[in-house]
Amino acid sequence: MNRRMRILSFIIILLLSLNFAGCQERSESHENNHVRKENFSVREGKRLFIHYCSPCHGESGDGFGQYLAYGLEPKPPDFTSPDFLIKRSDTLLLLTISEGSISIGKSNLCPPWGKTFRKEEINFVADHVKYLNEKANVNSNNIELAGEKN
Ligand code: HEC
Repeated sequence: MNRRMRILSFIIILLLSLNFAGCQERSESHENNHVRKENFSVREGKRLFIHYCSPCHGESGDGFGQYLAYGLEPKPPDFTSPDFLIKRSDTLLLLTISEGSISIGKSNLCPPWGKTFRKEEINFVADHVKYLNEKANVNSNNIELAGEKN
């Protein structure tokens, strides 16, 4: 191969790899517009959430539980609000669920679940809380987009 050929093939490889990187970026941003599938963890979390958490937190996680939420002060936070997860790291979420809201310096109204659930189950339930947040916010983005079109 002469010098020219080598430079040319270098350029071709460079262009191909740039194009490949571009494709990856596009498919990632595409995925961000969709809620991830309800995988095993989210489904198990849902089962536990409906049974143990929804009386206070509501099935959708909006904080309006059917039975218990009315008398609670402070009220359970809205898990579906866009800034809910922004303010809470995974570590804090897992800590709150296993040690109760008192462990993060709030009231003692959210019970500690660490003795009821295995560690794995705490992860499932936290995953479901995150899923509820993602689902609500993808939907509200879609509504905003639909609104812009009109
Ligand atoms: C008896 C009612 C009740 C039940 C049952 C309950 N919670 Fe709560 N939860 C609350 C209340 C009230 C708060 C708000 C506490 C505060 O701000 O002081 C809260 C707050 C939280 C928070 C947010 C804490 C923060 O960062 O501000 C998380 C996460 C949470 N609960 C998860 C759960 C999960 C998961 C379950 C079920 C396994 C559950 N809760 C069951 C009443 C409840």
